[in-house]
Amino acid sequence: MKLQIALLAGDGIGPEVIDQAVKVSDAVARKFKHEITWAPALTGAAAIDAVGEPYPDETHAICVAADAVLFGAIGHPRFDHDPSAKVRPEQGLLKMRQKLGLFANVRPTFTFPSLLDKSPLKQERIEGTDLVFLRELTGGIYFGKRGREDNGETAYDTCTYTRAEVQRLAKKGFEMAMKRSKKLCCVDKANVLESSRLWRETVQAMEKEYPEVEVSYEFVDAVAMRLVQWPKAYDVLITENLFGDILTDEASVISGSMGLMPSASLGTKTSLYEPIHGSYPQAAGKDIANPLATVLSAAMLFEDKGLTEEADAIRAVVNRSLDEGMVTEDLADGGKSYKTSEVGDWLAEHV
Ligand code: IPM
Ligand code: MG
Repeated sequence: MKLQIALLAGDGIGPEVIDQAVKVSDAVARKFKHEITWAPALTGAAAIDAVGEPYPDETHAICVAADAVLFGAIGHPRFDHDPSAKVRPEQGLLKMRQKLGLFANVRPTFTFPSLLDKSPLKQERIEGTDLVFLRELTGGIYFGKRGREDNGETAYDTCTYTRAEVQRLAKKGFEMAMKRSKKLCCVDKANVLESSRLWRETVQAMEKEYPEVEVSYEFVDAVAMRLVQWPKAYDVLITENLFGDILTDEASVISGSMGLMPSASLGTKTSLYEPIHGSYPQAAGKDIANPLATVLSAAMLFEDKGLTEEADAIRAVVNRSLDEGMVTEDLADGGKSYKTSEVGDWLAEHV
């Protein structure tokens, strides 16, 4: 297969972890006889510095033309401490999500047998956890009407959803549930919010199209609690943008390290693959960041292209690196650790 992949390394540790995912993907391409062309493009603070805006039109054109996008991270502390900054890296992210129509953000949480002791939760509670969130990514309060009134003394943000937006996300959820354990949980706050009642009503109406899927409806506050109490109770969860933002950060600690979880954002124009962690500016340029979440994001990319064996090869070599202690310092418990680039080289070599 010929694949053209847009490469948006972004800020902080983005470029370093992306480099490792490229090495591993190239190794997979050699082994399975595929041809990958990488198309690098600017985004985030790096793009603000170069051309004055975080998601330039040129980058968008490269993404639209690509079969998929591999994304590192964006964000820079110099903007975090300046609430008056006119252009912010995160705006680039939101603009990109909107312009590429990345409406379904797939965020899995699973455990690695060799890392169970890294989780802050008790081993017996998390062992075997395998769940996936589908977070709606282009609607809700992130994109609703917002503003100030009363000379700036009152502020508001609004959460708006259309039935069609809920349906397309829920459809992905039902389809994913069919491929997994046929359990779907719709997470909302229908006891309070009108937008949540629309979600619930829409998903309920879709149930008859998927008679085999067992659907549960749970309030977001209860899910926040049960997620850490008994994560194995869940399989596929669908939810709106902000609830999904919060719950997926919470879920990521189950696996023990932020540096491990990959994600995919499925879109109308193209799809994007990225680690769930951020730009980790303190580690930038030090060659110490954990590249596995990005490498596993590349595996999700292959999987979505129907290249399951290729995806499995990446997951297998990642597991082997963990078993053999070929890990970055965040996973080394003060023992022997390796550089980001060394882990990437090892993975590429052992694919
Ligand atoms: C995420 C991040 C973003 C979000 C930020 C950086 C805008 O937290 O991808 O989860 O809130 O969606
Ligand atoms: Mg988040």
